[in-house]
Amino acid sequence: MCGIVGYIGNKKAAPILLEGLSALEYRGYDSAGIAVLENNKIITKKDKGRVSNLASIVTPCNLKGSIGIAHTRWATHGIPSMENSHPHLDNSSSFGVVHNGIIENYNDIKLFLIENGYNFLSQTDTEVIPNLIHYHFKNTVSNYQDKFLASVKSAVSELKGSYAIEVISPLFPDKIIVVRKDSPLVIGIANGENYIASDIPAILPYTKNFYFLDDNEFAVISKNTVKFYDNNLLEHKKETKLINWDASSAGKNGYDDYMLKEIYEQPDVIAETIKTRFSMPNNNYFDNLDFSKEYLESLNNIYIVACGTAMHAGLVGKNVIENLCRIPVEVDIASEFRYRNPIVNDKTLCIYISQSGETADTIAALKLAKSKGAKTLAISNVFGSSITREADYTIYTHAGPEIAVASTKAYSAQVILITIFAMYLAEVLGTISSEDISKLKLEITELPKKLETILNDTTQIKKFAKIVCTEKDMFFLGRNIDYCTALEGSLKLKEISYIHSEAYASGELKHGPIALIENGITVIGIITNPELVEKSLSNIQEVITRGAKTLVITNQSLPNNNIDNIIKIPETHPLLAPILSIIPLQLLSYYIAKSKELDVDKPRNLAKSVTVE
Ligand code: F6R
Repeated sequence: MCGIVGYIGNKKAAPILLEGLSALEYRGYDSAGIAVLENNKIITKKDKGRVSNLASIVTPCNLKGSIGIAHTRWATHGIPSMENSHPHLDNSSSFGVVHNGIIENYNDIKLFLIENGYNFLSQTDTEVIPNLIHYHFKNTVSNYQDKFLASVKSAVSELKGSYAIEVISPLFPDKIIVVRKDSPLVIGIANGENYIASDIPAILPYTKNFYFLDDNEFAVISKNTVKFYDNNLLEHKKETKLINWDASSAGKNGYDDYMLKEIYEQPDVIAETIKTRFSMPNNNYFDNLDFSKEYLESLNNIYIVACGTAMHAGLVGKNVIENLCRIPVEVDIASEFRYRNPIVNDKTLCIYISQSGETADTIAALKLAKSKGAKTLAISNVFGSSITREADYTIYTHAGPEIAVASTKAYSAQVILITIFAMYLAEVLGTISSEDISKLKLEITELPKKLETILNDTTQIKKFAKIVCTEKDMFFLGRNIDYCTALEGSLKLKEISYIHSEAYASGELKHGPIALIENGITVIGIITNPELVEKSLSNIQEVITRGAKTLVITNQSLPNNNIDNIIKIPETHPLLAPILSIIPLQLLSYYIAKSKELDVDKPRNLAKSVTVE
């Protein structure tokens, strides 16, 4: 989705803006642009295509201005083109704007502005914003001390939809104004200079001190100050937050791709999550959660709501919570949940999982549950992200910045965190014996080493990837918790290798999809639950009989029975198996995509942070 960067200080803005845009490339985009203030003018450079293309236009110009805004655009209104790229200016070139989000009522505003003599050069919704600011600047705003801020505010109060906006003006050459609603924006504070971005990693090389802008909050940023205003333009103070991510953790560290680096970071990510949770005083795991036994016993059910990979982590969470706590758990896709009038009330606990914490559907689904009286818990990787500010409670995964579009380490972190959360619930409810908790804890602490064992020998996976990289279709099969892994493995394959695949609960195959099994088709089975080995093997035999080429990922000793490839992973507690069994599947997708020479980190059409519906 669109990305925003801004800079105000003493240095040349253009190189900093370009670097910030490069760091935001992973969000997904099709055009890029910057605007800097120079000689009392807004100088704009923009085009469709990559940031490297923009850099080749900007760099020879040697722009000297030290205030600027920048944008990567993920096209919604209007094709990717130079005209539709941001920044956009008003007709008099007095205001320059970049915008992330969607202005739903832009057509009405555009008609109004056309009636008032304004022209439009692009098909975007965004272009109405600078012109509307100009309209208010000329016509309605008079008696405010700060006319710039008041004009921005008047314009913004007419907008419907979602937005994070940066505005510059040569009439006010020492400030940038920003405002947001339902789209992310952070402000990074440094000495005599300030930075703005959609995401923390874009400006992590410059600062670790951040302000997180709230919805409907304005900030007027100069090089030495940041002033905050509410919707009535009343000034208020705000605390900075220290983000302890290492700038190098946002780099590739010698790996070919972010995705591979992030796959290999999983032992550390899991170790860090375990360390943080198991070292809490009084074995409490989460010092900010205070669910009482009475409250938990009063619950009719738990919802876990999320999108994509995060939803798959929720499916694992369902298995673990239901097993350990005996509370019914329903997992829902956020974009469905929000429109299906779900049965939610004060007897429902709603859990929202989101790596970015900015996924529009997940946030909307959370707001809905809150409005119906449910308690809400967010699981997020990004401190201060929108979802964490909406939820009643937040618990954080400590995965560090995840840059590759395809989620890997954040998924594992979500799975381990929700597992520990399930243990917490089970202990409060008294549905687990202390012996079982100790066993589970022991198995959990052994996970990082077991993950390393898998990552240290990838020969078989690479070989299999070479064999199947030209396929058009594949199937993934698993039962119970292994079905969750099958779904996630199938999603990874689709996302980065562009191979169509279906994940099925093994026992369901014969109720229809087995009709698609024919000679040579690849079927990948996941078999980790000792109690279901025989049943799962029977399902694999059914596809072998029909000519399928098979790969089975297992922690059990299986009879070969004509299975073409068996990848053995370490044994663990059945509820923890997904954390290990997903690794070969992540690697398989990665190596298939590499064999096909695809852009692993930036798969086509996808965005890292899906901030629109
Ligand atoms: C898949 C992937 C997506 C995200 C989904 C939710 O690899 O990354 O399916 O999981 O878009 O994103 P978050 O977790 O940021 O809400």
